[in-house]
Amino acid sequence: MWKGKNVTVFVTGGIAAFKVATLVRLFVKAGANVEVAMTKSACEFITPLTFQVLTKNKVHTDTFDEDEASKVQHIHLADKTDVAVVVPATANTIAKMANGIADNFVTSTLLAITAPIFVASAMNEHMWENPATIRNVAQLKADGKVIIEPATGFLAEGYNGKGRLPEPEEIFEQVTFFESRRAYGSPLKGKSVLIAAGGTKERIDPVRYISNDSSGKMGYALAKAASVLGAEVQLVSTAKQLKVPFGVNVTYVESAREMEEVVTAQFPTTDVAVMVAAVSDYYVANRSDQKIKKQHNKSGLKLELAENPDILKGLGHSKKEGQVVIGFAAETEKVLEYAAAKLEKKKADAIIANDVSSSNIGFNADNHQVTILTKEGKQIPLPECSKDALALEIWKTLVAENVIR
Ligand code: C5P
Repeated sequence: MWKGKNVTVFVTGGIAAFKVATLVRLFVKAGANVEVAMTKSACEFITPLTFQVLTKNKVHTDTFDEDEASKVQHIHLADKTDVAVVVPATANTIAKMANGIADNFVTSTLLAITAPIFVASAMNEHMWENPATIRNVAQLKADGKVIIEPATGFLAEGYNGKGRLPEPEEIFEQVTFFESRRAYGSPLKGKSVLIAAGGTKERIDPVRYISNDSSGKMGYALAKAASVLGAEVQLVSTAKQLKVPFGVNVTYVESAREMEEVVTAQFPTTDVAVMVAAVSDYYVANRSDQKIKKQHNKSGLKLELAENPDILKGLGHSKKEGQVVIGFAAETEKVLEYAAAKLEKKKADAIIANDVSSSNIGFNADNHQVTILTKEGKQIPLPECSKDALALEIWKTLVAENVIR
C-alpha cells in the first residue's frame, strides 16, 4: 500500500508533536517516502533534526529557504505529495486551512495540495468545542479533508477531556484505511456483512474449557477487508485479544450456543454472513458451577458432551431474504472433497476450503492458502499470501464470481 508513495507530514505547534516521530516511522517502515514540514511553533516542541534523521529528507520550515533555483519548494512538495497528514493540527492551523490562509511553509503547501489531506487534531477541550473551531472543522470536512477526531483521555493540562491526539498507530490505521478504500473502490458498499470469528470455548467449570487452535486472525482480516471495501461489518467474536479493525462493530461471545444466538438475531438484517469461526461440535452437558476438584478415584472424571447447533447449516437453511451464506472448511485430508460435501449439506453459497495439515499456513499462522468452491460447482484456488491480502482477494473473487451481487 505505502511502497513508493510520497507522504507529506505537516507538524504544527502542539505538545503532541512528539508523537509524530512514531507516526513518521510507521510510514517509513511501511515503505513510504516521507517528507516533513513544520511551523515555527512546532520546532519549539520537537527539532527538525529528529524528522530529518527518521526520513533521510531535509525538513521544510521556511517558505523563503529556496536553496534550489529550479524549484519553488512549497509548490514542488505539494505537487509530489500523494497523501498529506497534518498532525497535530492546532486550532490555529485548522482556522487558516479553513480560510485559505497561506502565511507559512505549512499552510502555503497545504493550499497547493490536490492530493487527499488528513487532519489529526489535538488541542485543549475548550478550544476544540469553541464555536469557531467547530465552524472551521465543518468547513474542512465540506472541503473534502478527512478529520481524524481527537481522542478522549488525559490532557497535558492535567485533566481528562476530548482533545488528545490519537495514538500514532491509530492515525496510521485510519489513514491506511481511507487510502486503501480509495485504491480498491467500494464493491461492498451498501452491504451489511456479518462475520463470526475465533474458536468457541465450551466451559467445563468456571476456570476450564474445551476449545481449539483457531486464532480468529482470518475472520478479523475478512472483517477489515470488508470494511475497507465499503461494507457495514458486524463481527461476532471469541477473540478478545485481537485488535478490532477500524470501522468494525464487534459483539463478544464465548460458546457456540452464545454465538448462534447473536448470529441468528443479526441474520435477518444481514446481506452476507461468513462463518469463519471454529465452532466446537460439542459442549459440556455436565458443566460444573464450581471449580472441579481432583478426583482421587480409578474411574477418573467423566465429561458428558452434547452436540452444539450447526450455525452455518442453520443459516444456510433459513435464508429467506436472499442472504449470501459463506462457510469455511479447515481440513487435514481430502480437502476439496470434504469442502464440496459441506457446501451441499449446509446449503451454503460458497465454501472456502483450506488445508490445515501444514503448520506454516492455516490455524494460527499469518499466511494462508485457500480454494473457493461455489454452489455453481466452480473451484477457484487463490495464491498463498498473508491473511490480510488473502481477505481482499476472497472478497474480490466472491464479487467477480457473482456469489455476492
Ligand atoms: O462442519 P464443519 O465444522 O466441518 O464445518 C465448518 C464450517 O461450519 C465453518 O464455516 C464453521 O464456522 C461452521 N460451523 C458452524 N457450526 C458448527 C460447526 C461448524 O457454523 N457447529
